[in-house]
Amino acid sequence: MGTRSRALVISSEERIFLDIRQALSNSNDIDQCEWKETLIAGLAFIRQSKPNIIFLDEELCFPDVSTAVKEFTAKLPETRIILLAQMGRRDKIDAAILSGAVGYLLKPLDNSEVEATVQRVLANFTPELTAPMIQSCLTQTGKIISTFSTVDGVGKTTIAVNLAVLLAKLSGKKICLIDADLQFGDVCRFLHMDPSLTIVDFASREAVNRHSCREYLQSWNELIDVFAAPPKPEQSSLVTPSMIVEVIKELACEYNYVVIDTTVGFTDVGLEILELSNSILFVNTLDSISCVKNLRLGMDTLRDLKYTQDKVHLVLNRYKAKTAIGIAEVEKAINSSFAVKIGNDFATAAGALQAQQPMVLYQPDRDVSQDILTLAKRIVENTLIDNPKQSSITDRLSRWLKG
Ligand SMILES: Nc1ncnc2c1ncn2[C@@H]1O[C@H](COP(=O)(O)OP(=O)(O)OP(=O)(O)O)[C@@H](O)[C@H]1O
Ligand SMILES: [Mg+2]
Repeated sequence: MGTRSRALVISSEERIFLDIRQALSNSNDIDQCEWKETLIAGLAFIRQSKPNIIFLDEELCFPDVSTAVKEFTAKLPETRIILLAQMGRRDKIDAAILSGAVGYLLKPLDNSEVEATVQRVLANFTPELTAPMIQSCLTQTGKIISTFSTVDGVGKTTIAVNLAVLLAKLSGKKICLIDADLQFGDVCRFLHMDPSLTIVDFASREAVNRHSCREYLQSWNELIDVFAAPPKPEQSSLVTPSMIVEVIKELACEYNYVVIDTTVGFTDVGLEILELSNSILFVNTLDSISCVKNLRLGMDTLRDLKYTQDKVHLVLNRYKAKTAIGIAEVEKAINSSFAVKIGNDFATAAGALQAQQPMVLYQPDRDVSQDILTLAKRIVENTLIDNPKQSSITDRLSRWLKG
């Protein structure tokens, strides 16, 4: 920063103000440090003077930390807020960071920490740096499930959308469906939604104003919220890998399940999604030899990434009992089994799109819907990971003997 900055300490304890002032006395970045003893006095002060950095004591935040931080950032979007928190109050730190604070200091203060934090905040404040800060503060509660494939058109979106609907139905819990097929996402087409906000609206806000992504979600029903894909392919580059990490981490704190539909193959954003996923549904069809080749390459890459069968679940979509390409041969070739099989039912899939309904609601009794129901039940009951079919040699041998 070229010019020197002003700091404001909002705390009822004079000791805290004196410590901060002392810590900043040799700083080349700060030339003035003011003190206000109450939140109201702090808010009144910023009307005349515009501090560049505010140290806000969580004990004065009213009615809560989140509201207080938002009030300051709304009035002074350029000002950086550092929360002063008691040890052990991660909840308050999380709330502050999610509401726009750029850092925190633990009380009692350590002088060198104060100086280092101020230097970092003033010199290096970028979204990439705040993202890891947010990550380390959050307590994830929700399960992250992504669909993935190495061939397009295999049913990723169909499975993601119908799975989200059934997870909500079975669990009665809140589901977030993220359309991370950033160029050609069509989750909204499957759900017959016309979103007024998409991930692009969130991504195009200046980093300093980009506090929480939740307000950019669109409700499909009372349990399912959708984060829609960009309306135009060229907008996809606005969503960076670090941003998607920030988004998923935040949503996994809020929702019981975060279902993510992705684009085909390994992309920078896609790799972050795979990394964060608790379960990757690797969707395949056995339509051609090139599908099998790409499946094998995909499995090799996922193994290189050190993802185990607890995390990667092979899904065979449009499954037919008799296919030109033998399922057992494929499983042998890739040294892994299909954990989930979903039947082939073109009439139901096409009819659902025409009826503008997810197929599990349009034709719940059809085999294809029942297969997705079984998948959803296994996820809710946590039994998907129990069935990775780590094929033993005897299993494989007996399958081979049966042909
Ligand atoms: N089990 C199924 N039986 C019959 N048709 C299906 C099945 N699953 C999906 N389809 C149909 O296959 C087509 C492709 O499905 P979908 O769009 O879900 O694939 P995708 O992998 O998301 O494609 P993309 O790579 O383009 O995003 C759609 O028309 C869909 O209705
Ligand atoms: Mg798709």
